[in-house]
Amino acid sequence: MPSKILVTGGLGYIGSHTSVELIQQGFEIIIVDDLSNSSIEVLDGIKKITGVSPEFVKLNLRDKKEVNRLFEACPDLSGIIHFAAHKAVGESIDQPLKYYQNNIGSLINLLQAIESMRKRFSFIFSSSCTVYGQADKLPITEKAPIKKAESPYGNTKQIGEEILYDSTRSNRLIKVISLRYFNPIGGHPSIEIGELPKGKPQNLVPFITQTAAGIHKNLNVFGNDYPTLDGTCIRDYIHVVDLAEAHVSGLKRMMANEQNDNFEVFNLGTGKGKSVLEVIKIFEKVSGVNLNYEIVERRPGDIVEAYADTTKANKVLRWKAKNDLGEALKTAWEWEKKLRNI
Ligand code: NAD
Ligand code: WQD
Repeated sequence: MPSKILVTGGLGYIGSHTSVELIQQGFEIIIVDDLSNSSIEVLDGIKKITGVSPEFVKLNLRDKKEVNRLFEACPDLSGIIHFAAHKAVGESIDQPLKYYQNNIGSLINLLQAIESMRKRFSFIFSSSCTVYGQADKLPITEKAPIKKAESPYGNTKQIGEEILYDSTRSNRLIKVISLRYFNPIGGHPSIEIGELPKGKPQNLVPFITQTAAGIHKNLNVFGNDYPTLDGTCIRDYIHVVDLAEAHVSGLKRMMANEQNDNFEVFNLGTGKGKSVLEVIKIFEKVSGVNLNYEIVERRPGDIVEAYADTTKANKVLRWKAKNDLGEALKTAWEWEKKLRNI
């Protein structure tokens, strides 16, 4: 019986791009999503790109009975890529229990269902560079200390990693790779799938593309008095397709029993830090659109500078981000234009 991979949150932004990559690399997948932050049309996008209509189950992972039923119905599952989570930092500060219940509750339901399967399982967890907070040294390696979380959302990533680590110690059946994403941006070059933020975007790149499309009058740049070259914050923006490829590399590593430890962590970024003003400049160049922007107050909680040391992922996963910022911004803009019929 060929093994199958469960992709939770597979209709979401990163999950849909990873589903495409998995199918293109020959994996059979089942997508689970409750559509709380995605739309069923994403399935058509995946089909248009790959020619394959993946199995889809609409399911809320907080429902333990439903999760158990899913695993019982799919005895050939051997791996999970777990994207499903709520991810709005600000909302998590206002509604912490919603975040703990969804992000931690879903993870525990999955792990308990895996335990009851009594077979080896490969598990990839969507973690975040947010676990490092403002790191003391740059670029940030996986050895950098975990800082006290700035938000309940960030805390769910830290707790999630701890739960997974403990599970690999108590239960020799589960193997885990936790991927700490830096700032994922862009969309698939086919322009069939991309980022679909609900409501007003909080993240820089969707706000830029929506401003360029005329949805917002101007972009607020949060502070230009930081101790950086041009005074604006620095991040490591990584093309979502590069990110997707890293998941497949991680999965293959686990399936080939190549792990040094049953719990491994990797940073996923480009290794290059770019300031907010640099992102704006590059966007203007690749899109040909002049952006209206205004320097405003700092955004509370923003860290000054974060970019990844990707040496470990480059060596161990034999993976490297191929696309530069311009390439990623170009796809983000093409996707926005398609959404707005521009
Ligand atoms: P997303 O919101 O686009 O995708 C998450 C998907 O999970 C959505 O389709 C949503 O409907 C689904 N979902 C949420 N709760 C669910 C539940 N209880 N049951 C079933 N489905 C559920 O988010 P994304 O940007 O694709 O992020 C994917 C993962 O990566 C998340 O875990 C997120 O925390 C993490 N991450 C994202 C970023 C980023 O900037 N996008 C950065 C670091 C880490
Ligand atoms: C990038 C830069 C802003 C919007 C968030 C989460 C983090 C992680 C990644 C999941 C910052 C500036 C932004 C705007 C701006 N997600 N900015 N005007 O802050 O690195 O992290 O996404 O794990 O947890 O907190 O990303 O895209 O929000 O901001 O000037 O309208 O752009 O101040 O310097 P961030 P971001």
